[in-house]
Amino acid sequence: MNEIIVSPSILSADFMNLEQEINSVKEAGAEWLHIDVMDGHFVPNITIGVPVVKSIRQKTDMFLDTHLMIENPEKYVESFAKAGSDLITFHLEACKNEEHIRKVIRLIKSFGKKCGISIKPKTDVKEIFPYLNEIDLVLIMTVEPGFSGQEFIHDCALKIPQISEKCKNNLIIQVDGGINNITSKICISLGANSLVAGNYVYKSLDYSKSINEIKNWR
Ligand code: DX5
Ligand code: ZN
Repeated sequence: MNEIIVSPSILSADFMNLEQEINSVKEAGAEWLHIDVMDGHFVPNITIGVPVVKSIRQKTDMFLDTHLMIENPEKYVESFAKAGSDLITFHLEACKNEEHIRKVIRLIKSFGKKCGISIKPKTDVKEIFPYLNEIDLVLIMTVEPGFSGQEFIHDCALKIPQISEKCKNNLIIQVDGGINNITSKICISLGANSLVAGNYVYKSLDYSKSINEIKNWR
């Protein structure tokens, strides 16, 4: 079993103290930082854009895990890559067809970045199978994308073993939405190795404790 990567979502952080909030999760043992980019079209919410990623990059060496919940992802890949994202994950549902999906994958890789594809709760897991050997990460949404603090949808976790059966060994399987000390155990035992957590980390009193509860799942 690979090591577990915890990726706190800054959407739940205190934006007035973002630098401190980022340093705190790093000190608390988080490996990655999850940045939720929403455009008000693909999802009914608007959040973080390129200038914020650029500012974060100047202040931290953490691995920047950028989750694009936007339409036309190909239009923005270059900007996020140049702003300093390390991983760029886009949504399968934001693409028109297979050709479109492959174009976005190639584009992300052309900037030397890791590439992820995400699927929403209602998307059939089989739709992602054709791309598994071309990408670094699959992000299984365990809530409807758009907002932090929602309840984990248990059925979505069943997609995890279906992906791990089909994929190469080093594919990262990430889950996002409603992750806490209980749902993380369910996901890890099914084969997930990267866990995004917004509220469970940032709304807790002790970031170290909540991150360790997610990581030490046995
Ligand atoms: C939802 C976002 C998530 C969210 C996670 O659309 O993609 O990353 O911020 O927040 P929690 O962990 O609170 O569900
Ligand atoms: Zn996310």
